[in-house]
Amino acid sequence: MVITEEALRSRVAELGRAITRDYADRRPVLVGVLQGAFLFMADLIRAIPIELQTDFIALASYAGTRPSGAVRLVSDLSVPVEDRHVLVVEDIVDTGLTLAYLRRALEARRPRSLRVCCLVDKAERREVSVEIDYVGFTIGNVYVVGYGFDWQGLYRNLPYVAALE
Ligand code: IMP
Repeated sequence: MVITEEALRSRVAELGRAITRDYADRRPVLVGVLQGAFLFMADLIRAIPIELQTDFIALASYAGTRPSGAVRLVSDLSVPVEDRHVLVVEDIVDTGLTLAYLRRALEARRPRSLRVCCLVDKAERREVSVEIDYVGFTIGNVYVVGYGFDWQGLYRNLPYVAALE
């Protein structure tokens, strides 16, 4: 399974159009989840031609290809998000544990609104139900690398998404 560069480009452009429509005049804060979402974030914001701010948060949840279940805040946001329109930009939602943790942590800061955009949704792997507002691609139970997604720190620099053989 591969998501080609062309498919990534056109889907990111579509997501950008939907977000642009929904957030015009709201000056959102887009919160990229490190490390996996950094390439997606970079491409996505260039497809959203409205006033916006960016920030990043780093979470750790995985060792190798198996979920540990434990989520840890490695590095926090640098701006307060109280009363702001926050859009989380996630790489992959798998079991949902990371996103559930992040949603709780951000809701506690009382944003005016909180939505989530993820590039890849592995819906059939879900262990806790989480709301996702914008989804790039839904894939099956396969471990993928490239376009920011890693396996043991490797392969983030592939320009496309591929199944790890
Ligand atoms: P969750 O907490 O199980 O939803 O896992 C979410 C995180 O695990 C994602 O943000 C990714 O960083 C990582 N992850 C899950 N599946 C994959 C994959 O197929 N390739 C690379 N990273 C993955």
